[in-house]
Amino acid sequence: MSNVLQIYSIWLYAANAYTRTSIRAIPGNTIVTTPAGASKKTLAGLAPPPLKPASFLATVRSTKGNPFEIIPLQAYEQPFYLSKWLLGPVLMVNDPEGVRRVLLDNVANYPKEEMGDEFFSAMFGEGLLSAPGAKWRTHRKVMAPSFGTRTVESYAPAMVETTVAFAERWDALPQSSEMDIAAEMQALTLKIICRTMFSSDAEELAAHAGQALDFAQASLEFGLLDVLPLIGPWRIKRKQEAIRAHFKGMDAAIYRLIGEREKIHNEAPKDFLTRLVAAKDPDDGVGLNANEVRDEVITIFMAGHETTAVTMTWVWYLLSQHPAEEAMLHRELDAVLGGRIPTVEDLPHLPYTRMVIEETMRVYPPAPGISLREAKEADELCGFKVTPGLQVLVSPWILHRHRRLWDDPERFDPTRFAKESSEKRPRFAYLPFGGGPRVCIGATLAMTETILILAVLAQRFRLRLKEGEEVTLQTRITLRPKNGMMTILERREPVAQPDRGQEPPPQQAAIRQPVGRF
Ligand code: HEM
Repeated sequence: MSNVLQIYSIWLYAANAYTRTSIRAIPGNTIVTTPAGASKKTLAGLAPPPLKPASFLATVRSTKGNPFEIIPLQAYEQPFYLSKWLLGPVLMVNDPEGVRRVLLDNVANYPKEEMGDEFFSAMFGEGLLSAPGAKWRTHRKVMAPSFGTRTVESYAPAMVETTVAFAERWDALPQSSEMDIAAEMQALTLKIICRTMFSSDAEELAAHAGQALDFAQASLEFGLLDVLPLIGPWRIKRKQEAIRAHFKGMDAAIYRLIGEREKIHNEAPKDFLTRLVAAKDPDDGVGLNANEVRDEVITIFMAGHETTAVTMTWVWYLLSQHPAEEAMLHRELDAVLGGRIPTVEDLPHLPYTRMVIEETMRVYPPAPGISLREAKEADELCGFKVTPGLQVLVSPWILHRHRRLWDDPERFDPTRFAKESSEKRPRFAYLPFGGGPRVCIGATLAMTETILILAVLAQRFRLRLKEGEEVTLQTRITLRPKNGMMTILERREPVAQPDRGQEPPPQQAAIRQPVGRF
């Protein structure tokens, strides 16, 4: 199946069909409301799942927003859920052991559909997200050291500096300024990825990248017309041409920089680009050619900046609706940093900051559906007999709200990620970064970046949702607020610091590594 069809059908599959009838309500399943004093409204996407499958029209309509919201309750109670749609059945695997089998133990039987079609190659070429199997394996090996903990730590100063410059811009704004925090976080993470990728050439690249990536993201809007015979292929071809045209400026700049880095390799800045240009396969010493480096650069941009931006956007949203958790965060930041700029050495001492981010990615997984896998041979998953060719979907959205895995899953509660609770949880119950050999290569980078951003900004500011702002979810590969998110910026007075030891934030100093389990 072509990937365009595939993506479209993920939404439709995810939206379910008319296969199930006996669905029971779970006692005590409550709607989560905003805190005392705020309006008693369910937060975006936090209503309990519907009891019944959606109608055909509602299913089609849901593809404009977040189709995961219409998946019926049964999927959140059972280890698997078989959804049938016009294009064939899809098995949603919602049990950690089953997920582990698909993504790790029997991964060879569930290859990731290669995004080999022209639509994706118009954007990514053949980077890690889209490269065919053998090429993916080699590139992953070559690139792994560029994403290792030590290397990521070396990017922390650039992340912090960029965020501090951003905070200074916010500081210059009048008190109670309105801002679209979704757009702000996009701009910030784009700046950070440009700095870590291109060092001093970041400014030039940021302009090209912002424009090209916005266009590519907008191109992921598909309608029914895109899957019709004749008209569909014609529309897709037009989109591909437009995408190629929009990437021209960025491509030219990247190729020029690659050429320069190759010439001055000893004195080249220690950024991502230099590392990719110099990276070698440990087995045969072969590196990436200029085209391959270009494809990986674009892939890293696409995979790495939007996901981080939406994570931060949802962090601000949830904090604005949960004053007690926000106060806890402020207490930790004030106690550990006391107003100073954080460094990477502070990360192990900011466990609650990290827990806020982890819980945010549980509630709003930035990638709510991990790409479809297709069974090559017969297998058994959670007692279900898998036949060759069956499509299998692993969805962090469902897993993260599954009734057997989480208490009161619609409630925002960062303490779920306290060390002892996380250690008891099966590894494949929580999948913001996927799992197995295709696990996100940028997970450590993303956690380091988001913790540092939150530590810098939440020390000085808090954001309130603008009165009357309606937040609705939209899934376009990533999960984002459909029309941005208007907030009011407030400067923050540091909270009086508790006596050290008297009221410590949970798990203080208990976590050594910024990212332990991804
Ligand atoms: C909060 C931020 C992020 C989230 C939630 C996230 C999530 C994911 C997920 C779920 C996958 C697996 C997709 C699948 O199996 O189909 C993935 C893959 C990937 N991510 Fe991330 N990601 C994030 C940040 C980043 C960053 C910062 C980078 C790079 C700088 C990055 C680069 C990649 C790449 C290259 C892949 C493909 C890996 C492969 O197939 O070998 N991601 N990401």
